[in-house]
Amino acid sequence: MNALGKTRITGLAVEAGHTGAALAEPARATTPVVRVENVRKSFGDNIVLDGIDLTVPAGTALVIIGASGSGKSTLLRCVNLLEPVDGGRIFFEGEEITRKGVKVPAVRQRIGIVFQQFNLFPHLRVLDNLTLAARRVGHVRRREAEERAHELLGRVGLVDKARSYPHQLSGGQQQRVAIARALMMRPHVMLFDEVTSALDPELVGEVLVVMRDLAHEGMTMLVVTHEMQFARDVGDHLIFMDGGKIVEQGKPAEVLDRPQAERTKRFLRRTLQLADSLEELTIDEGGVR
Ligand SMILES: Nc1ncnc2c1ncn2[C@@H]1O[C@H](COP(=O)(O)OP(=O)(O)O)[C@@H](O)[C@H]1O
Ligand SMILES: [Mg+2]
Repeated sequence: MNALGKTRITGLAVEAGHTGAALAEPARATTPVVRVENVRKSFGDNIVLDGIDLTVPAGTALVIIGASGSGKSTLLRCVNLLEPVDGGRIFFEGEEITRKGVKVPAVRQRIGIVFQQFNLFPHLRVLDNLTLAARRVGHVRRREAEERAHELLGRVGLVDKARSYPHQLSGGQQQRVAIARALMMRPHVMLFDEVTSALDPELVGEVLVVMRDLAHEGMTMLVVTHEMQFARDVGDHLIFMDGGKIVEQGKPAEVLDRPQAERTKRFLRRTLQLADSLEELTIDEGGVR
């Protein structure tokens, strides 16, 4: 922990077993897993995505930062086809998924998403939370689904919790179950939307470690987060969003240490990343300076 209580994820250990096959399917090397081209989205007259372009090559982690309301969740929801775009195009493994007639369930199966709220089924044991979609949607046999579920629970350090109910687990454990559940369908990309934001500080690290391991195993990921240490250590590329636009992007350490745009500087300053101590900060009607 540093002085501001940010969890350092390097060196933390979760008792995850590293057996079994790699989680990420090898993607064709040259085709990006996700490509977003001039995507626009409004809710009424509120322009939420204002011409977003981004490319996520296979096996890389894109970190998305930005203030509340800047459009980060909407961007992930568009990629997962939970929201239709108003303009622009989104490609998944080279195929345009924003075109008419696309098979939405088939696309969604390949795109795992994890939210801030764990959304586990409260009346189902952990094992059944994991196997339900695989058996119903993926038509996987019970035994096969349960084998994979046990393997994934091992990877997120929860082999002993297969028979527990969600309410018997901590928030960090529930979020690790949610990640394992998202991995059941063998997604080719994982979207994480502030998955540690609802957790008590001491539970954040165990979830970040699971995500770090996934990245190291070659999973392609889009990660919306306020955990700047994670962004720096695990991100291959970082974008800063403000008002539905990408204001600045680059290598995480470069953007975080040497932000160029005034809006990026202010955002990072407000998240205390550039302030050595609280003493340096003042507040006025525009927020923290
Ligand atoms: N379903 C929706 N209907 C209307 N407005 C929405 C909806 N979802 C998001 N918004 C608005 O879009 C803007 C961006 O929201 P969001 O993508 O959740 O931002 P972030 O995740 O960066 O906080 C906000 O102004 C929010 O109120
Ligand atoms: Mg959000």
